[in-house]
Amino acid sequence: MKTVYNTATSLDGYIATDDHSLEWLFAAEGDAALEEHAEFMKGVGAMVMGASTYEWTLRHESSWPYDLPTWVLTHRELPQAGGDVRLAAADSDQALRDLHREIARAAGGRDVWLVGGGGIAADLARLGLLDEVVVSIAPVTLGSGKPLLAGRADLRVQDVHRSGDFACIRYAVL
Ligand SMILES: NC(=O)c1ccc[n+]([C@@H]2O[C@H](COP(=O)([O-])OP(=O)(O)OC[C@H]3O[C@@H](n4cnc5c(N)ncnc54)[C@H](OP(=O)(O)O)[C@@H]3O)[C@@H](O)[C@H]2O)c1
Repeated sequence: MKTVYNTATSLDGYIATDDHSLEWLFAAEGDAALEEHAEFMKGVGAMVMGASTYEWTLRHESSWPYDLPTWVLTHRELPQAGGDVRLAAADSDQALRDLHREIARAAGGRDVWLVGGGGIAADLARLGLLDEVVVSIAPVTLGSGKPLLAGRADLRVQDVHRSGDFACIRYAVL
């Protein structure tokens, strides 16, 4: 079982614009990328995301699109989306370790998907709780935005391939 941060990113390392737009991503997204994502999801047993990513999903989906246990990291009482969504705060390294253990247990032997964002990815990497970073690099630069990874992570390339207009790289976190 692995914890995998799988996301699309701009070439210059942003996963959303400053105002949380993904318009640049959908302008590039093709069938190949969607098929690849569906394949990835077959190995996923639980999900974790930050409050902004959750709020983006609430704004853009008519109903909750996932049927997996999902933890949303937040300090706020966010609206419930339906599905198995659990709100949690992790304000210390120990709290994040404990929460990660709970999420991994819920994944039942399958992988944990960190959906985003980059702050949580950096925290998990720093604690040695992130196993892989999988990026689909869209053919666009944004200049500024929400960072892919908001901290240092040392990585090793495991796989590189092309999926439509995206360059896809799978890294192991060292
Ligand atoms: N390109 C892609 O494929 C892709 C993938 C995923 C996400 N996205 C987008 O990227 C953007 C990411 O936004 P973001 O950078 O703001 O990251 P985020 O992780 O989605 O949200 C950050 C917020 O999560 C809460 N949070 C984070 N860590 C926490 C912790 N340990 N305990 C409690 N709360 C915690 C805090 O919110 P509060 O304290 O205010 O509750 C924090 O401000 C979103 O627009 C999302 O839609 C894009």
